[in-house]
Amino acid sequence: MIPHEYIEELTRRTDIVELVGSYVQLKRKGRLYGGLCPFHSEKTPSFYVYPDTQSFYCFGCGAGGDAIGFVRKINSIDYTEAVKMLAARAGMPEPQDDDKTGRMRSRILSMNKEAARFFHACLNSTVEEARQARAYWRRRGLDDKTIVRFGLGYAPDDGQALYQYLRDKGYNRQELDASGLFKRSQSGRVYCLFWRRVMTPIFDLRGNIIAFGGRVMDDSKPKYVNSPETLVYHKSGTVFALQIAKRSASRRFVLCEGYMDVISMHQAGIDTAVCACGTALTPDQVRLISEYADEVILSYDSDEAGQKATLRSLEMFRNSPVKVGVLQIPGAKDPDEYIKKYGAERFKALLDGVGNALDFRLKRLRDKYDLAQDAQRLEYVKDAVDMLAERSSPTEQEVYAGRLAEETNISKTAIMTQLAAAVKKAGSKRRWEKNNAVLRSGEMDQIKLPYSVGGGKALGIASAQQRLLAAILREPHYLDLVKDQLPAERFIQPQQKELYEAMLRCRQEGIEISLTTLHAFVSEEALNELSHLAAQYSDVNCTPDDIRLYLDRIARGMPLAQKAAEMSDEQLNDFIQSMREKKQGNLPQEE
Ligand code: UTP
Ligand code: MN
Repeated sequence: MIPHEYIEELTRRTDIVELVGSYVQLKRKGRLYGGLCPFHSEKTPSFYVYPDTQSFYCFGCGAGGDAIGFVRKINSIDYTEAVKMLAARAGMPEPQDDDKTGRMRSRILSMNKEAARFFHACLNSTVEEARQARAYWRRRGLDDKTIVRFGLGYAPDDGQALYQYLRDKGYNRQELDASGLFKRSQSGRVYCLFWRRVMTPIFDLRGNIIAFGGRVMDDSKPKYVNSPETLVYHKSGTVFALQIAKRSASRRFVLCEGYMDVISMHQAGIDTAVCACGTALTPDQVRLISEYADEVILSYDSDEAGQKATLRSLEMFRNSPVKVGVLQIPGAKDPDEYIKKYGAERFKALLDGVGNALDFRLKRLRDKYDLAQDAQRLEYVKDAVDMLAERSSPTEQEVYAGRLAEETNISKTAIMTQLAAAVKKAGSKRRWEKNNAVLRSGEMDQIKLPYSVGGGKALGIASAQQRLLAAILREPHYLDLVKDQLPAERFIQPQQKELYEAMLRCRQEGIEISLTTLHAFVSEEALNELSHLAAQYSDVNCTPDDIRLYLDRIARGMPLAQKAAEMSDEQLNDFIQSMREKKQGNLPQEE
């Protein structure tokens, strides 16, 4: 960790307007600056920079943050690199990573590098087990170049060899324990976690080795043993082979299930293949991939598990800006097997003819029905129409309605009529779900109902809380007015609670409050949220009286919101209904 004094100094010496202005043409608009967002393509500016809070936010794609975040994003580098870059720009010396955890982190990284060398050397040794391991990789179709490129290796039968090797290199017991490479038996003997396995190192974006996956060479279980979470390895935020894919000239990524698929694809010349490490795809991984890819082809195993995973991942990418396609692999269980059976060229041809997400969903649906039977055909059309209503644009609806008509022999006009009705229904369902969510979050005023809470035009609690956070970011001394009145537990949204707690903590530890210093205590998402709030309320001038007003609103609104949060869907329905009836017999239709 970089000391907070250093970060504070860096913040003082950096002006975000000047910084961003060196990448983006900015126009002054009152207190803020606007321009075309560098993080997504747009024709009218929705990207703003706020000198008051030293933040940026794009209302188009939701990218936001502070100066460090901007430099990270625009150069695709990590936090420490971004700090170094800004420091150089501001004429400051490099930050000293003198803190204990930082040192341990770099010790683990160098241990991992040594371990990878060890495994690689074991693979190339002359003993019989090494020969077997080499034969295994060969059998899987990998050539020497690929083995070197991915740093593949072999963990030998001797479970103590690596421990001894690292000890001899000067790593102490505490460091060896923290590496995640070893486990201790009850008698206190130390064993390498990986034993008689072929080894695949896992790299971070800068090319550090942060973990390993080890595979058995036969059918025994478990097939893979993976490194545990350590100071340097966070599985949910890691994408295998991304350090290679990010440098590719192509921004069309292929996301598959296993290490082996990725490695075979790279050998076949597809250098944008990646996979999530050993788990279902996480939101962090989706964000990471979306930073480097414009398009992602899901290329999962063809078994049922793989198809389910595809649906799940489609859902995960739904709100990301990347275009998603789905590759179906005919005649093989996974990309690796397909490439081995039919060759790289045919696999690439398959990739070029890839279908989109809707094609995939519709095909899965169609497989459930026997279209030769009238009743089932009608059912199919009904389900397909519902799906199209929820997930497609009007143009897509036109195209798919035509296809559906051909498939089922039902007239396109009839299908379009059904579709129109379904679209209307889907719309009101979505609105309803949104209202529920909004009510649960306490944002009463956002629901277009002609009632108000507690008389007057009440602001939602969440909205008051958001305004408070934005105000404190702009005028940190406001925290003194707030901190004794508003316990952190009162925050409705977890991310905002996290932010508030971090602000309290900064205050307590004598750290200046800014987006940049808060980074040490909150997640990236929370920071993004705060820059969003700063953007949203940038034109709201906030006096101490306003602060007291917000506090008052929170105090008065609390019971109702808490009540709503505890209700079941049905109770909530009734509740909103009763609110409507109380105020007005007749409600104007929304939209
Ligand atoms: P697969 O079984 O498809 O593995 O699991 P694979 O990499 O294609 O291996 P081959 O082709 O059989 O050699 C997909 C991924 O799930 C994780 C690994 O990350 C693997 O790459 N996995 C699988 C585990 O972590 N542990 C296991 O026991 C099995
Ligand atoms: Mn496989």
